[in-house]
Amino acid sequence: MLEPLVLPTPEALAEHAAAAIEAAMRRSPRGLFCLAAGDTPRATYERLVFRLKRSQAELSGLRFIALDEWQGLAPDSPGGCQSFLRETIIGPLGIAEANVVFFDALGDPGTACREVADRRRAWGPITLAVLGIGRNGHLGFNEPGTLAESTVRLVVLDSTTKRVGAKYFPDGRAPRLGLTLGLADLLTADEVLVLASGEAKRGIVRRALDPSSFPEVPAAVLHRHRHATLLADRAAFGAE
Ligand code: F6R
Repeated sequence: MLEPLVLPTPEALAEHAAAAIEAAMRRSPRGLFCLAAGDTPRATYERLVFRLKRSQAELSGLRFIALDEWQGLAPDSPGGCQSFLRETIIGPLGIAEANVVFFDALGDPGTACREVADRRRAWGPITLAVLGIGRNGHLGFNEPGTLAESTVRLVVLDSTTKRVGAKYFPDGRAPRLGLTLGLADLLTADEVLVLASGEAKRGIVRRALDPSSFPEVPAAVLHRHRHATLLADRAAFGAE
């Protein structure tokens, strides 16, 4: 089931999500965490870093695996998922390089995908996946029509993903291809949290809560998961 949980404001959403991630990290100090980039989780990660530093939590055993990346970007490229996560989480928490794996988006895509898939098998299962939802319902770069059996791969990005994704890039142009964990990889996570904030997500949040909208709305695959929560603020969820 994909259970909705509605918080009144974006701030309350970020606080709730940060507390949930912190709790998972404390329960599983050697756990594997898969975190989305994007605008939605930024405030959550800020609060998470604050909480973990304040409590002097033990972080040396935590591991992090990439969710997705725009193909062709250098590791420190503005707009990239890796650079975002390094800036918001990996850097501020001082996570060791040996405990993170990102897609090598400059190299051969097959090799990059194999590396991430191998690491997921070696380090997995994913303890907690923190995801965003695209306006087209995508999870990671699993675009509308993706099979539930999909695994790590190179994908041609949907036109909505490219149009909306332009906001991340200084030149206003998003790459055409992406690298992503598949829906099957996400379904094997022990727990999944999907964050949705703002009115622009309202329509797609509604559709994601209907199991029959899969595979047109990839996020609806999470109704097959045993512990998936859609955390939405009031603006994303709409009035009761
Ligand atoms: C990013 C990712 C994407 C985003 C989604 C929502 O790593 O996996 O699926 O989570 O496109 O993006 P924002 O939060 O910018 O609305």
